Amino acid sequence: MYVTRLSTRVSTRVPLSKQVASHISKAATANFSSSYCGPIRHVAFIAQPTQQSRRQFSSTSRTQLREYFPEPENELIRKTKPAWEHPDFAYDDMKSKVFYAHREPADFSDRVALFMVRMLRWGTDIATGYKHDVEETKRVGDENAVAGTKPYGMSERKWLIRFIFLESVAGVPGMVAAMLRHLHSMRKLKRDNGWIETLLEESQNERMHLLTFLKMAQPGWFMRFMLLGAQGVFFNSMFLSYLISPRTAHRFVGYIEEEAVFTYTLAIQDLENGKLPLWTHSDFNVPDIAVDYWKMPEDKRTMRDLLLYVRADEAKHREVNHTLANLDQNQDPNPFVSEYKDPTVPHPGKGIEHVKPIGWERSDII
Ligand SMILES: [Fe+2]
Ligand SMILES: [Fe+2]
Repeated sequence: MYVTRLSTRVSTRVPLSKQVASHISKAATANFSSSYCGPIRHVAFIAQPTQQSRRQFSSTSRTQLREYFPEPENELIRKTKPAWEHPDFAYDDMKSKVFYAHREPADFSDRVALFMVRMLRWGTDIATGYKHDVEETKRVGDENAVAGTKPYGMSERKWLIRFIFLESVAGVPGMVAAMLRHLHSMRKLKRDNGWIETLLEESQNERMHLLTFLKMAQPGWFMRFMLLGAQGVFFNSMFLSYLISPRTAHRFVGYIEEEAVFTYTLAIQDLENGKLPLWTHSDFNVPDIAVDYWKMPEDKRTMRDLLLYVRADEAKHREVNHTLANLDQNQDPNPFVSEYKDPTVPHPGKGIEHVKPIGWERSDII
């Protein structure tokens, strides 16, 4: 049964530093080489017609074709669904209602949060080798029209390094905040007002982003070492920050999510502009884990669609955390799971119909 499942989807390790054209021709002929360079192995998902034909053409050994973390096969269990189902996002809403936006800091606490995010962003850009060509397009008559134009600094592989690094730490704050609120509720014998589940759901959602990208790229020892260090530092700093000022911590996450929306917006743009041909190749399939989790419709399973879903999630985290930072941390109920007296007035919820990029103000919703 395990072998049968492998026949429909094959992990294809491609040497990413070589010419993209050669990748595609390799993918298209279903004849793959295996080599490794840098902090990740890139894994493209290409549909294979049958087990028979794959074995005829593949030069990769059977053991190398194993999936990175295959779904476990059990005698009695057919499928294990996530305990928290992903809310449905309307496809058009993901395109029209999700965009980059910045909330201006209003006080000292906000400015501290923004400063910390800018520092973190600077460090992460260096760690993940992020170089995006945001330079303006050259015009006819520019003196250095050729010499001054930077080559495209990103690639599928570089984007995946960045996604994996970011997503591996993105799942930390929600878990820390939920843990501390849970312990606080039990220790102080007080109710939590519904925040814990939303925070846990956020960290679960970030972990699903990570697992999805891990199906496309496998980190090497250096990347794993970096993730270990980043998680250690980030967990402890979030833990301390949340104890000192939960409001600042939520604002900090709100600003991080602004950056996440920006990052995925640029990746989507690059993909649409034909700069990432491995991901627009007609044989490219998004991983099954993503199809299941987001319940991606059959005609909406391209890499662009996947990035739209992920970006919409980040926009939701941005909205949730900016809103929570506007509330009374001890008294106010979680507005994202509350029922409103007048349901006809737009209010916070789990979906993105009324997504608010800079969060909801307390006076509008409580
Ligand atoms: Fe994420
Ligand atoms: Fe996020």
